[in-house]
Amino acid sequence: MKEFNLTTKMRSYVWDELTDEQRALIEVAKEQTDRSYCPYSHFHVGAAALLANGEVIRGCNQENAAYPSGLCAERSALFAAGAQYPDQPVKKLAIACFTGGHFTKEPGAPCGACRQVMLETEHRYEGQMEVLLYGEEATYVFDSAADLLPLIFVSENLKG
Ligand code: THU
Repeated sequence: MKEFNLTTKMRSYVWDELTDEQRALIEVAKEQTDRSYCPYSHFHVGAAALLANGEVIRGCNQENAAYPSGLCAERSALFAAGAQYPDQPVKKLAIACFTGGHFTKEPGAPCGACRQVMLETEHRYEGQMEVLLYGEEATYVFDSAADLLPLIFVSENLKG
């Protein structure tokens, strides 16, 4: 038996420490929480993807009475980006969560399925995608989606 520690890296920033570009993208993600369709959870999630050509693609969670038919904010943004600009790498992805009348103090953690899709996005465009998780008290910054998902499953794994 061998035991391994899988380590990962993130940084925590207060608002003033972020760059203008990061703050602008987060503002879009925050705005998007207002467009979320979440009549079941009342948990509003907004996402904003910055593409290499400077376009910002918006997403937010879309719920459904048949619960599994809904989609998270992150995937709605990344899939929209892929549909509208298939040739443009996604450089940054910002996410914000709003519930109970305020943005969450701590950043929301993306679900496993969204992490998997973030990772595929990085591999698809062969470059790192910065992930910004906004919270009122701190914003977590990941240089790469891979830092959110150690021991990854990507297309190479299908080859065995
Ligand atoms: N949600 C997201 O949009 N992103 C995540 O990464 C986690 C959860 C949404 C799904 C659902 O509409 C609501 O938050 C509650 O789970």
